Amino acid sequence: GDFDTEIDLALFGALGDLSQRKLYPALYQLDREGLLDEGTRLLGVARQEVDAEGFRSKVEAALKCHVKAEEMDRAVVKRFLARLDYCQLDATQPEGYAAIREWRQAGSSRPLVVYLAVGASLYGDICRHLEASGSLDARSRVVVEKPIGFDLVSSREVNDAIGAVFPESRIYRIDHYLGKETVQNLIALRFANPLFGTQWNQNHISHVEITVAEKVGIEGRWGYFDKAGQLRDMVQNHLLQLVCLIAMDPPANLDADAIRDEKVKVLKALKPFTDDMLGRDVVRGQYIAGTSDGQSVPGYLEEDDANTDSHTETFVAMKTGVSNWRWAGVPFYLRTGKRMPAKMSQIVIHFRQQPHYIFDPDQRALAANKLVIRLQPEEGIALEVLTKDSGLDKGMRLRKGPLHLDFNSAFAKSRIPDAYERLLLEVMKGQQYLFVRRDEVEHAWRWCDSLIAAWQDDQAPRRYPAGSWGPVASIAMITQDGRSWYEDY
Ligand code: BG6
Repeated sequence: GDFDTEIDLALFGALGDLSQRKLYPALYQLDREGLLDEGTRLLGVARQEVDAEGFRSKVEAALKCHVKAEEMDRAVVKRFLARLDYCQLDATQPEGYAAIREWRQAGSSRPLVVYLAVGASLYGDICRHLEASGSLDARSRVVVEKPIGFDLVSSREVNDAIGAVFPESRIYRIDHYLGKETVQNLIALRFANPLFGTQWNQNHISHVEITVAEKVGIEGRWGYFDKAGQLRDMVQNHLLQLVCLIAMDPPANLDADAIRDEKVKVLKALKPFTDDMLGRDVVRGQYIAGTSDGQSVPGYLEEDDANTDSHTETFVAMKTGVSNWRWAGVPFYLRTGKRMPAKMSQIVIHFRQQPHYIFDPDQRALAANKLVIRLQPEEGIALEVLTKDSGLDKGMRLRKGPLHLDFNSAFAKSRIPDAYERLLLEVMKGQQYLFVRRDEVEHAWRWCDSLIAAWQDDQAPRRYPAGSWGPVASIAMITQDGRSWYEDY
């Protein structure tokens, strides 16, 4: 093909949570699908002292824990583990990096992919030491995880540090939502279907709703999370990427820059926040003790390591919009939180009503189509349409029902790959369209910063019990516009 997918992968943070939970399982699945070339090797890099054998058994344990038993194939596990090696080093010190160069030289001419599954404060050091040690060449790529900084200024520092060593065309900034099957489907849905293509604007759409609800709480990550909060952890990246894919103009083609240029235009057109919007259009929440799956769970301030007077938000709901011709006057309602009743991410496109209404006045509220795009769980798309209710006594009563496409049952032949499988494969192919460009990160921060600046004098977040849909004020935020959060599917 045009690209060879054989690579040498150096994974920093090789014993960390992300590697164990996501990256090894994803690489294993690629191997199982025959998508990891024979020569591909992985060097785990971390601070802990273990030998290569010890490292392989840790990776094997991670696979057992995070891959379904029926997908564990002994021959593939063996082949996968045989690709692994380990290098112990302190990433901040130049000394250890010679080992990476040697590992490379013992190999071949395969391109090096460096994956930084570590905090962004280490990115600069690692890139510099890799370069100084002679481990890189003109084909080397780097993959970095969010969060890229903490605000616009710090994100620029991080981007500068990486950019001093790698050109933009070889930097892969992960937003794992872009690897989700249904998120990529937004592109197919919008740009392959004339039915939606022609309706996708303020003439036909009344408002857009995005919910990314998580059932989990902080999962032992208080130290990280308390400095970030839900706005930085989820909205700055994942939710804004969804907004971009929904709102962008059609790209001229599917090239990485054609798509990313259109996304940047959306980010630039996001309505900035002003002080007067705070009480009305933005709601911050923090969970207190409650229940999750029938079990009682502690509040945010009672989690391990908690600082008991933190004002960090674990929930945020907001009304925003995209100020351009396509979207003028169309509110985008976003909400995301931890410790909600269910893990559920969905986008609902609400279409406008017909210009003239002829049915039962009581049913007026029903009378608009909705397109529901379910990202997780149970990936699928449903279009709510109105039909006549059956039965002789019903006259011309309306009834709404879904035209429903459930990905699992419609395309049952294949499992739905995890986001990281798709993303790792794209890195190997050298394709950047599912990765975030520098200017996207920075425009997203610029917008978040406008909100954070307005928050500064704000009082404590509103409380909501764990296991609820967030503060009551987040419901009031949308009902004040005569609307409600979409509940059934
Ligand atoms: C991560 C956040 O980026 O996304 C986590 O840091 C969050 O806090 C996670 O839980 C959610 O991802 P997913 O794929 O489970 O929706």
